[in-house]
Amino acid sequence: MSKILPSPEEALKILKEVGCSADVIKHCEAVANIAVEIAKKCLVNGVAVNINLVQIGALLHDIGRSKTHSVHHAVVGAEIARSLGLPEQVIRIIERHVGGGISVEEALELGWPNKNYVPETIEEKIVAYADKLVEGSKIISIEETIERFKNELGKDHPAIKRIKRLHKEISRMCGL
Ligand SMILES: [Fe+2]
Repeated sequence: MSKILPSPEEALKILKEVGCSADVIKHCEAVANIAVEIAKKCLVNGVAVNINLVQIGALLHDIGRSKTHSVHHAVVGAEIARSLGLPEQVIRIIERHVGGGISVEEALELGWPNKNYVPETIEEKIVAYADKLVEGSKIISIEETIERFKNELGKDHPAIKRIKRLHKEISRMCGL
């Protein structure tokens, strides 16, 4: 990693400094706790995963909520992280954490720069998945999240398939 990963304390300080609310910070801490738990299970299951990166990426995943709570918080967050000189691996976790990822077509419709917004590395997948298991700072099941997405987007929305796929993949890899 070319740039240095901040410590958890530094990551929390960054969230405060950019103006994230106490609720957002609580959510990020809850997601980080679950993400680290999942990452540890992956390691036990023989999957190589950078736990520090998972923890810091999870703590910072919603940094964009300092500016907007819309879906754009992913790209806005990535921009903020880039401006702060955070490592590229962290920027990509932020950029790819929405739902089970955002397709090329959806990104185009949203007017986002043309690139990949689907989590690819194990660390990106774990943070996106852990985020789907936390509502506010409350832990919920993946089934509850899927229901919520169905209610918000319609039951056949492609986002639902992507979340289910992420759930299956993480469950298999990490032996959940
Ligand atoms: Fe988010």
